[in-house]
Amino acid sequence: MREEGLLTSVRTEEEIAAEVGLRPRVLDEFIGQEALKERLSILIEAASARNESVDHLLFSGPPGLGKTSLAAIVANEMGATFRSTSGPALERPGDLAAVITNLEQGDVLFIDEVHRLPRQVEEVLYPAMEDGQLDIVVGKGPAARSIKIDLPPFTLVGATTRVGRVAPPLRDRFGYVARIDYYGAEDLAAIVVRSAALLGTPITPDGCEAIARRSRGTPRIANRLLRRVRDYASVRADGSVDAETADAALEVFEVDEAGLDKVDRAILVAIIEKFGGGPVGLSTLAIAVGEDTETVEDAYEPFLILEGMLQRTPRGRIATQRAYLHLGIEPPPPGAQGQLMQRP
Ligand SMILES: Nc1ncnc2c1ncn2[C@@H]1O[C@H](COP(=O)(O)OP(=O)(O)OP(=O)(O)O)[C@@H](O)[C@H]1O
Ligand SMILES: [Mg+2]
Repeated sequence: MREEGLLTSVRTEEEIAAEVGLRPRVLDEFIGQEALKERLSILIEAASARNESVDHLLFSGPPGLGKTSLAAIVANEMGATFRSTSGPALERPGDLAAVITNLEQGDVLFIDEVHRLPRQVEEVLYPAMEDGQLDIVVGKGPAARSIKIDLPPFTLVGATTRVGRVAPPLRDRFGYVARIDYYGAEDLAAIVVRSAALLGTPITPDGCEAIARRSRGTPRIANRLLRRVRDYASVRADGSVDAETADAALEVFEVDEAGLDKVDRAILVAIIEKFGGGPVGLSTLAIAVGEDTETVEDAYEPFLILEGMLQRTPRGRIATQRAYLHLGIEPPPPGAQGQLMQRP
């Protein structure tokens, strides 16, 4: 069995089930992102006061920051039904037509991974978003005809980890596009406090901080680390968590002080030891650590870049001085880095 890093965006069945219980249901339970919450509450209150549905919303940002949670919160706050699907699930225009003709007035339709909608499906979505009309061709050849159906007002909430891949005409049809950013340590600690209470795990403030610090700015990871720390505390200690228990537990699970797991460290070590510090191409690097390119690019690199340990350059990935320092490896003299690779 291949072990997933504890800090990736890949979710197991156990996690999907665990997340449901920890998901915030209303805006007040959603921690952090204050500016975004303020704007959403204005949109929600204004629409409710007019008895209308909220304008279409697009949430973008890295995995695990709360896009799906927020979409469900919007539905909840509007007293609307939440219906959820995803870009890859809507393969043909008919798939989308089936979903939207079932919508009732005010429903919130959530499309996850909206950047992965096929082009022909997107084209059906445009008039639905803009004019509230479904416009599709039924039948084939000479018998083909186009039919138009009026749709009840609804709110489309799209989510994407890749806003740059959302086609501009689609992006333009959202009334409000929000970027969700990584969370600060205080917000993450507050999320750990809330989740620990829901899980019934006693935890000290410094225990929360120890977990928050290693959560890579990501609520999903904070909750995941908390669950592992809780497991450790229940079998190796008395079930309650303080900083010492959290540190010991995370050491067992190979999450280091900076929140790097063994795959992160393997990536940095590979760049430094196998490729002279870089630059090295993404696909070569992915092979060297035994991961797919997409996993390295989407799940690992953003945090290493955020922490200033890795740089993306036009010629490939480079390990920075901070990476050498973090790993306790002597950095090359200034200017010498990557010379190995640069010689013709
Ligand atoms: N602001 C928050 N306050 C409290 N908990 C949060 C917050 N944001 C996220 N969470 C927790 O993190 C988990 C993951 O959030 P969610 O599934 O909404 O992320 P996502 O952005 O949709 O991720 P993905 O891109 O992988 O779909 C949720 O189950 C919830 O428990
Ligand atoms: Mg989601």
